[in-house]
Amino acid sequence: MKEAMHTAHLALTPSAVIGPINPRLYGSFLEHLGRAVYDGIHEPQHPTADADGFRTDVIELVKELGVTGVRYPGGNFVSGFQWEDSVGPREDRPRRLDLAWHSTETNQVGLHEFQAWLDAVGSELVLAVNLGTRGVAEALALLEYANHRAGTARAEQRIANGRTEPFGIRMWCLGNEMDGPWQVGHRTAEDYGTLAARTAQAMKMVDPDLELVVCGSSSSSMPTFGEWERVVLSHTYEDVEFISCHAYYENTGDLGAFLASGVDMDRFIESVVSTADHVKAVRSSDRTINISFDEWNVWYATRFENVDKITGVDNWPVAPRLLEDTYTVADAVVFGSLLISLLKHADRVTSASLAQLVNVIAPIMTEPGGPAWKQATFFPFAATSAHGRGVALAADVACETYRTERFGEVPLVDAVVTHDEAAGRYAVFAVNRATDGPTEFVLDLAALGTVAAGARLGVRVLADDDLDAANTLDHPDRVVLADLPYRREGDAVRVELPPVSWVEILVELPD
Ligand code: AHR
Repeated sequence: MKEAMHTAHLALTPSAVIGPINPRLYGSFLEHLGRAVYDGIHEPQHPTADADGFRTDVIELVKELGVTGVRYPGGNFVSGFQWEDSVGPREDRPRRLDLAWHSTETNQVGLHEFQAWLDAVGSELVLAVNLGTRGVAEALALLEYANHRAGTARAEQRIANGRTEPFGIRMWCLGNEMDGPWQVGHRTAEDYGTLAARTAQAMKMVDPDLELVVCGSSSSSMPTFGEWERVVLSHTYEDVEFISCHAYYENTGDLGAFLASGVDMDRFIESVVSTADHVKAVRSSDRTINISFDEWNVWYATRFENVDKITGVDNWPVAPRLLEDTYTVADAVVFGSLLISLLKHADRVTSASLAQLVNVIAPIMTEPGGPAWKQATFFPFAATSAHGRGVALAADVACETYRTERFGEVPLVDAVVTHDEAAGRYAVFAVNRATDGPTEFVLDLAALGTVAAGARLGVRVLADDDLDAANTLDHPDRVVLADLPYRREGDAVRVELPPVSWVEILVELPD
């Protein structure tokens, strides 16, 4: 039988500016969870370990991924975390129960070590404070310890612990997922909004230039979604810069709906923007609150709930294998489409964190004493971070739609364009959601005028006949980005997008 052939048309429109792309859009997240830290980034016995015990092979992969900032140390973990446990001489640091993941935390990696790792990676630290079991006083103590230059008890403690210069942390998260019943110390919107406002006000008395993130909903499917944002922002509007969004997607058997996950993310972002702007209007405020989408990914969370979850009063392992999802080509295509959704909202999503970074629902996997490798999701992230810079441009793709039970009519192709003027480059990122055949994608460069003829093109694709293909310890290079052929006809570039594919088209302008 002949394969179905779809068509999609996009006219590149340099004037269709959505907004500048904040480099913080390419952040990630690393939690004290499973083997993310211990036996992930930190493995002192590993042949590649540096003097601090960090795997340099992992550092190189994180650099290649192009991660601009890392949110730390949680996640659910932070809601029971006592930061004081993780500073000072390592031999004196206590081991503690981590209730979030039913594990033992050894505290052998803490703020100082993690900052050293980030310095090697070249990324910004985004620090979360515990508003689950703790409050204003402990957040202030941590801020003084981290950022105050000298001459106070906490600053001198930091200096005595080997760090003369302040950490200078700009961006702080006020707790994590405080709407979730699973969160240690979870609260109502009223309670959390009140606590977050008091914490934010006190932190800004120390430094008014801090950038603070208040917790939004853990997902758009929470029963309190929408109202949570409204109430929390009503308390905190004048004191924070961001509200968070979290979203995870998994293939529950309806591939068409899974491929449309970006539609859900679009709606989620637009709802939170509307709610934030509603609070702005009610308050007649001249501030605008933006979104920190500080957890997003594909995550087979139902597998965790049903299979991996640790229980037992005497069972508290150190660095167990948890949330070690293996990502398929289909997962990576959806993942790439989530990056497209973030870019489509670059005017209001000015920070984001891929959750997570190493071993735990991660683009980078490691084996103790063995290799580190790239999951399929590594490739769309690295390419988008490398080339999706400058400003985001709306991409009005003319294409067919298909019907899903969950999201109604969904466009077969979704795309965004970025323009990096300094690099002389346009980049088109597109996803082909068709499962029954390829889509002929026509990119019209007429708006570029005479320079279009001299532009150099590069087209790379993530696709495979086997949608379940994945990179593993035994087959670490099974999935890679491949060059995709294209044809030029005048101002048009024709590319045949394989079914279920993510594509990057680079248009490099002549000097
Ligand atoms: O990223 C894994 C977990 O997902 C985080 O700890 C939590 O914030 C979210 O529920």
